[in-house]
Amino acid sequence: MFGLERLQVDRPGTSRRHAGVFALWAVTTRVDCAFVGAGAVASEYLDGIEGTNLRLAAVCDTDRERATALAAAAPGDPAVYTAVDALLAAESAPLVINLTSHAAHAPVSGTALDAGRHVFSEKPLALDPERATALVETARDRGLALGCAPITPRCDAQRHARTLLADGRLGEVRLATATANVGRVDEWHDRPDSFLDVGPLYDGAVYPLSLLVAWFGPVARVRSADAVDAWPGEQSPRTPHVEATLEFADGPVVALRASFYVDHRSREFYGLELHGDDGTLYLRDTGALAADRDAVSVRGGGRESTPAPHPQPRRERRYVEGPARLAAAVERGGRPRATARRGAHIVAVCAAVERAAESGGAVPVETPTAATPSLDSRAAPPAAAPPEGRSQRGALRLPPVGFGCSRYRDGDYVEPAMGAALDAGYRLFDTAELYGNEWRLGDLLEGPGGPDRESVFLLGKPWRTNHGPGHLERACRGSLAELGVDAFDCYALHWPDAWAHRGELRSLSRLPVDEQERLTFPTGPDGDPVRADHDLLDTWRRLERLHDRGLARTLGVCNVTLPQLARLVDAARVPPALVQVERHPYRPRERLVDWCHERGIRVLAHSPLSAPGLRSDPVVESVAEDTGVDPATAVLAWNVTHGVIPIPSSTTADHVVANLAAARHRLDDAALARLTDLADPDFER
Ligand SMILES: NC(=O)c1ccc[n+]([C@@H]2O[C@H](COP(=O)([O-])OP(=O)(O)OC[C@H]3O[C@@H](n4cnc5c(N)ncnc54)[C@H](OP(=O)(O)O)[C@@H]3O)[C@@H](O)[C@H]2O)c1
Repeated sequence: MFGLERLQVDRPGTSRRHAGVFALWAVTTRVDCAFVGAGAVASEYLDGIEGTNLRLAAVCDTDRERATALAAAAPGDPAVYTAVDALLAAESAPLVINLTSHAAHAPVSGTALDAGRHVFSEKPLALDPERATALVETARDRGLALGCAPITPRCDAQRHARTLLADGRLGEVRLATATANVGRVDEWHDRPDSFLDVGPLYDGAVYPLSLLVAWFGPVARVRSADAVDAWPGEQSPRTPHVEATLEFADGPVVALRASFYVDHRSREFYGLELHGDDGTLYLRDTGALAADRDAVSVRGGGRESTPAPHPQPRRERRYVEGPARLAAAVERGGRPRATARRGAHIVAVCAAVERAAESGGAVPVETPTAATPSLDSRAAPPAAAPPEGRSQRGALRLPPVGFGCSRYRDGDYVEPAMGAALDAGYRLFDTAELYGNEWRLGDLLEGPGGPDRESVFLLGKPWRTNHGPGHLERACRGSLAELGVDAFDCYALHWPDAWAHRGELRSLSRLPVDEQERLTFPTGPDGDPVRADHDLLDTWRRLERLHDRGLARTLGVCNVTLPQLARLVDAARVPPALVQVERHPYRPRERLVDWCHERGIRVLAHSPLSAPGLRSDPVVESVAEDTGVDPATAVLAWNVTHGVIPIPSSTTADHVVANLAAARHRLDDAALARLTDLADPDFER
């Protein structure tokens, strides 16, 4: 347990407030740490420290009053020092968290490393590349961990942007624009001198640079740069406004602007826009600690820009997560230095920008091997994770909300907004032969900005006129051809019972309505549907053969009763992985849902919003108001909270986004019960 003191074995109170921090590692031991620097950012690091694996043993600041005030606000009565040397001599805390002013970062980190302490430093790591690299080398040579802020590449909005990027939505990314309009620091900081001394590059620009370097690797050279003395009367040694064009070794050319002059309330604050051959991604705030609904938006395939909401409930990160994560890694025997290497490279980029601005020409960015940053190769967060706390052993991992592609709406035909759904980030599409628009989705998937096939879950459904021998396989192959894929992720019977076959169903939406209806609704002289004598189990055997041939990765069934499903599960060689039924508060289907969940079968709720009167039901409206959401979101969140995946459909881009964002909300037990109490055993459409 190198250098780490096991102070106590405990599990601090798991309040909701700190749940996000806890989720990252098992807190079994507390690690002593010392804060060096007790200014504004130190208060941010103190926030939530009790919920982590850290114990603040000491606080040091040259200003005793500040150190004492911070220590008084901290749990556990930390000791107070005014000199780092004195602290290091008296305290054995293995981790120093360096929260000093910019210029003091490198000397304080160097002193702490020399004293054999692991270090987590606020940004920037240093103010010149040689010192930054020397720190990384010292940490390496002494076998110590060295971490550097910001932690934002790990935060939800930024990781979500990275997931969409990795999805292939943008094609090759060739250009980007990055802004860090820090604003007039003397307006918003009580001690602005430290900022003014270093300039906006070493401060605000570090946020977009950290992301870009994490995603694309090192910057090869600064093509051009300009420093503008845009702030009359401001005498700081470094210019308050910098524009530069950076060329990544294996990535885009980036136009970077960092400014103390441009107001931080201007339209662009910390925005980053990536432009690829097939689309554009905009991340509104590279420094955000939480993912707002509209934090990321995507534009692809010639369509309008669409917000791509993060699919999980809001999780606000805390600054303290950086050092807490470092301490946890050290405790596991690791000596992480990746964020410090990235920090050292960013210092080298800033220095090269300054040189380019002075020389008026291009300047290569030289980063010694020890400080070469690595790409952020961590796996993207699972977009398809089942809802928290309801993980179902062995069950399919699916996104919390899917998109319904049906064209039928109150006896009419409409066109669901599938393009907006793809842009917004839906990854589960409920398609069907009957909907007749598989070819449209196929075009979108194949077209510019289409996501990587593996990131999309395609659910297909043969219509009930195609249950017979031969018909089922032809239906499946026809649908796959229209979608342009080799296999369905799940192929599910649209209905358990069969109707008479009236012909193949291809691109139905392109046929005259009369013809569509003749093919799909075979009616006898009495006007009733003409049934076909295919028992559910026989049809299931045919479906299993499609699975055996690799045309469907899993199988499913829709619109079943519990006795039908139980009979099927008993007899099936390939059991259903999902069941799709109409489900909303008027029809909660609790027994069926529980039965499925107990067996690891995922349940999809079709028609989750369209029950007549549901969205204007006074109880739904009241729950929605109490929860601070709109009625449609409340109804969808009711399904999501139960671990059921709603598949709403919409023709309206705003609704498409709002419905996906419903996955970010969980209802409490009282709200769930109020909605479930709306159950109406006589409900019929
Ligand atoms: N397996 C089956 O037998 C079966 C049967 C039926 C349905 N389904 C599946 O379930 C999917 C959804 O069912 P559905 O088509 O009946 O539709 P639905 O999703 O239950 O409701 C759609 C209706 O709600 C409106 N809407 C959607 N989002 C809204 C929002 N945020 N605020 C206000 N209004 C909103 C839509 O209007 P706008 O267009 O203006 O948004 C539309 O009128 C289908 O597309 C299909 O994939 C399967």
